[in-house]
Amino acid sequence: MRPPRAKAADAPRSGKARAGCHFPAVETRLVKTLLSETELQAGISRLAGRIQSDYAGRSLTILGVMTGSVVVMADLIRRLELPLRVGVVQASSYKGGLTSGPLSIAAELMPDVADRDVLILDDIFDTGRTMLGMLDHLQSLGPRSVRSAVLLLKEGRQEVEYRPDYVAFRIPDLFVVGYGLDYRDQWRQLPYVATLEPSDLADVGP
Ligand code: IMP
Ligand code: MG
Repeated sequence: MRPPRAKAADAPRSGKARAGCHFPAVETRLVKTLLSETELQAGISRLAGRIQSDYAGRSLTILGVMTGSVVVMADLIRRLELPLRVGVVQASSYKGGLTSGPLSIAAELMPDVADRDVLILDDIFDTGRTMLGMLDHLQSLGPRSVRSAVLLLKEGRQEVEYRPDYVAFRIPDLFVVGYGLDYRDQWRQLPYVATLEPSDLADVGP
């Protein structure tokens, strides 16, 4: 007997699906695309071009803030033709829901940054507190230089003066998921950036 066809193949691209579903094809119905795969890839290429020319002739240590930066990190580093070291750092001020808590940095996985040109990469610049905390921490470790790059900057949300050196996309003040970004540790695997409806934000996950 043939296996049943995945319902998602026939599903309309709008309308409401079950919250917390793990299949991207089905999630397509729940979420609204804000940045498509094509737009994202073009934005990452532009970002890579700027980084590439700014760091020409130097070697770069790129530090991805876990976990949200994993997808943009993978796409960005494959476009950089520079001597490149790649590391990760864990920082969280974000408890998986909508509000921020105090920032904690677990730097155990981080490579040595003393006397290096370092670029911190995060998924989104929201209040800015995570990035500012990371920069303070990094500065104390004696790098040659530190800059920051983010995939998204959420307009109108910043609570700090600092702005990232590189921003791939500016987005309105909406809660977004996909392309690494999560809501309660779900949705990171979507290949595009999407908004969740307020009702979905209440529904998803434990
Ligand atoms: P900030 O410290 O307020 O700038 O928050 C940065 C962190 O909050 C990011 O690294 C994300 O993990 C999380 N965050 C902020 N806004 C969103 C969003 O719209 N979707 C998913 N995560 C978000
Ligand atoms: Mg994050």
